[in-house]
Amino acid sequence: MKLPILIINMKVYPEVLGKKALELAKVAESVARDLGVSIAVAPPITELRTVVEGVEIPVYAQGADPVEPGARTGHIPLEFIKETGAVGVILNHSENRLLLNDLGWLVGRARGLGLETLVCAPDPFTSAAVAALEPTAVAVEPPELIGTGKAVSRERPDVIVRTVELVRGVNPSIPVITGAGIEGFDDVKKAIELGTQGILVASAIVKARDWRQKITELANALR
Ligand code: G3P
Repeated sequence: MKLPILIINMKVYPEVLGKKALELAKVAESVARDLGVSIAVAPPITELRTVVEGVEIPVYAQGADPVEPGARTGHIPLEFIKETGAVGVILNHSENRLLLNDLGWLVGRARGLGLETLVCAPDPFTSAAVAALEPTAVAVEPPELIGTGKAVSRERPDVIVRTVELVRGVNPSIPVITGAGIEGFDDVKKAIELGTQGILVASAIVKARDWRQKITELANALR
């Protein structure tokens, strides 16, 4: 993971249905190239391979299930993500929570497969707990701010500061990323000033009328 990073979580918003996920990824790739900023995307799982094959920026799966390949139905084992060429996986997002045992199993197995793990947590103490699993990065996102346009860096700077402090205490080599309600340039700037090394953004970009303009605005704050 090249830091500082802007990670665009497309979720499953109707705006990225079908081929639109690749369109958004291509815009992100072009901005990353123009500005020389590290940008990654997490498309809907059904578009994962299409996006991986269509762009050169890093692509993450939005989640995985704690199962081995085999007689399962409707699950997403890590091995199937790895095979698409995705560089990693977001785990334990507030909208797709995992039991701690399962999270530990997934992080360890992903490491063995050479997949990066971006593990989400809702608060500083949980962030410290998941840092002990040694993921590639921890992303702190207060769930009540997700999708609200009220940026974590403005509304809850204390959460960011405390998370950075606690995660550093567990393992100083694990970067902290943040997200929830990030809307504009100043929100990103502030998040970085507070000690994070990247941001995770969904609605402000996916729902923007002009994807290029919004991605450029947020990416510029990382320069
Ligand atoms: O994964 C990022 C996400 O949960 C933040 O969502 O819409 O507040 O940027 P949003």
